[in-house]
Amino acid sequence: MKKYNNADFNIKNLNEEVELFGWVSKKRNLGGLVFIDLRDRSGIIQLTVRPESDYYELASSLKSESVIKATGKVIERENKNKNIPTGEIEVEVVNLELLNSSEDLPFEITDDITALEDTRLKYRYLDLRRNELKEKLITRHKITMAVRNFLSDNGFLEVETPILCKSTPEGARDYLVPSRVNKGKFYALPQSPQLFKQLLMIGGVEKYFQIAKCFRDEDLRADRQPEFTQVDLEMSFVEENDVMDITERLVANVFKEVKDIDVKLPLEKMKYDDAIRDYGSDKPDLRFDMKIEDITDIFKDTEFSMFRSVLDNKGVINALVVKNEANNYSRKGIDKLTELVKTYRASGLAFLKYTEGEFSGSIKNGVSENELNNLKDQLALEDNDLVLIVADNYKTTKIALGALRNHLGKELNLYKEDYHLLWVVDFPSFEYSEEEGRFVSSHHPFTSPKDSDVDKLINDKEHCYSKAYDIVINGYEAGGGSIRIHDANVQAKMFEALGFSKEEAKRRFGFFLEAFKYGTPPHGGLALGLDRLVMLLTGTDNIRDVIAFPKTASASDLMSEAPTEVDKKQLEELGIKN
Ligand code: AMO
Repeated sequence: MKKYNNADFNIKNLNEEVELFGWVSKKRNLGGLVFIDLRDRSGIIQLTVRPESDYYELASSLKSESVIKATGKVIERENKNKNIPTGEIEVEVVNLELLNSSEDLPFEITDDITALEDTRLKYRYLDLRRNELKEKLITRHKITMAVRNFLSDNGFLEVETPILCKSTPEGARDYLVPSRVNKGKFYALPQSPQLFKQLLMIGGVEKYFQIAKCFRDEDLRADRQPEFTQVDLEMSFVEENDVMDITERLVANVFKEVKDIDVKLPLEKMKYDDAIRDYGSDKPDLRFDMKIEDITDIFKDTEFSMFRSVLDNKGVINALVVKNEANNYSRKGIDKLTELVKTYRASGLAFLKYTEGEFSGSIKNGVSENELNNLKDQLALEDNDLVLIVADNYKTTKIALGALRNHLGKELNLYKEDYHLLWVVDFPSFEYSEEEGRFVSSHHPFTSPKDSDVDKLINDKEHCYSKAYDIVINGYEAGGGSIRIHDANVQAKMFEALGFSKEEAKRRFGFFLEAFKYGTPPHGGLALGLDRLVMLLTGTDNIRDVIAFPKTASASDLMSEAPTEVDKKQLEELGIKN
């Protein structure tokens, strides 16, 4: 067995005999000597093979990424390399064995990789040899261990729940698995362990957690995978603050253990409505300021037709102030920002520049002097400020400016801190789905409404708020959860509110509703997106970077080529027509 790691050795080990295993990362012939950079998971160590060695020829012929075993003596290097921990020493080879040769690689194993991501995904096992991905795997492991230790120390029991199960309602499409034994019937892969963890509470487990695989057939984005991992937890006899408290301590513990970063607790709590009003997002990135300013009142009597018609239709006028950037945005630059807000359905983007005491910009001539002066006062404009304005209905205006704000934060690198964590609380119970033409759950159908809003479930859905909370880090929804309904009558009301008939609720969740009859404790929980947490702590915005074997945007695995067609015989066995 391999006993040592390359990184175990340094100048203190001079003259020791060592036995090393690893991959040939680089090989050079210099002044008659062969130098080999031997790589293992811990790092690189330099081997030297002298011309008089019996292994000189073998060493000279080694191809990159071949696997070797070398024994030798640790000696001091003449030319030291300060960039690696073993840089003061090298190992003079006494014995060398080629364990396995490598063919020419499809790409070089290097930190500054130029190969296309698709090629790297096809040969993922080679990509994993690179430092960058290896470090991310290591960080992921550390995070998982920190989570497990913290939760176990705090009385949580790790319990596994089924993968072949009945559909769970997290709002995405299910991945279905046909049953051979019960032809024509299907399992669904869990979108989350939601129902099972609630059943564990009914089962008396009290505090549960799981590092759980979840499967969702939904449109993929840079922070979404069809198969992802949650840190899932659930607790009995708790209220909102209890779940938030343990979660933020868990997250702070992970930040401390993995990155030695102190997170100041308790985290700020922001109401959902305020987050939308001020930042145009339910996951505001608070690493920088730049609130959305409501300037509707300034224009309430305006004669400027564009604003007038928006206001007559009960719309709003909102602005972002980009400090000290007016001169840096050309017409073309503004056009790009306009394109961006249009993708969020805003009708357009108006702008004003305030420079040397004067206004200029697209609406300068449309609005009155008085309105400009009021704008200057309300927005406390200073020289070289750029004002970006959207006038539209409330939701569109907020969402478009929220997206623009995020874009500007990134483009102008406005961030004042590395991490900003907060809770977004008091979510509405429902949101209206244009697609389905009805109200759907903002979270899921088991989330409790606020005690004062139970009566609004049926008749005043728009003003019904829930006991749901999201933990937000740097503009990402890092996790979400809620206090659950534990009263069978309220649950029945919720299904009714969502338009499920009694029969449908029984068909889909009958087993769950049955369990509610036998002493259900008050309970609540949350799930952190483990992949997203790793993304945040490793500084990548590509979720594929933190998953050993990820899928592409079209949900395929380029390495194994899944999904694939299957044999006719397999389909026949399942009773599925070809
Ligand atoms: P939710 O659907 O909010 O809640 O998911 C919890 C967290 O999981 C992460 N996440 C994802 N990560 C990667 N790819 C995806 N496709 C993806 N979808 C979600 C996010 C999110 O915050 N059962 C509830 C939790 C609960 O109520 O306890 C649930 O699954 O970080």
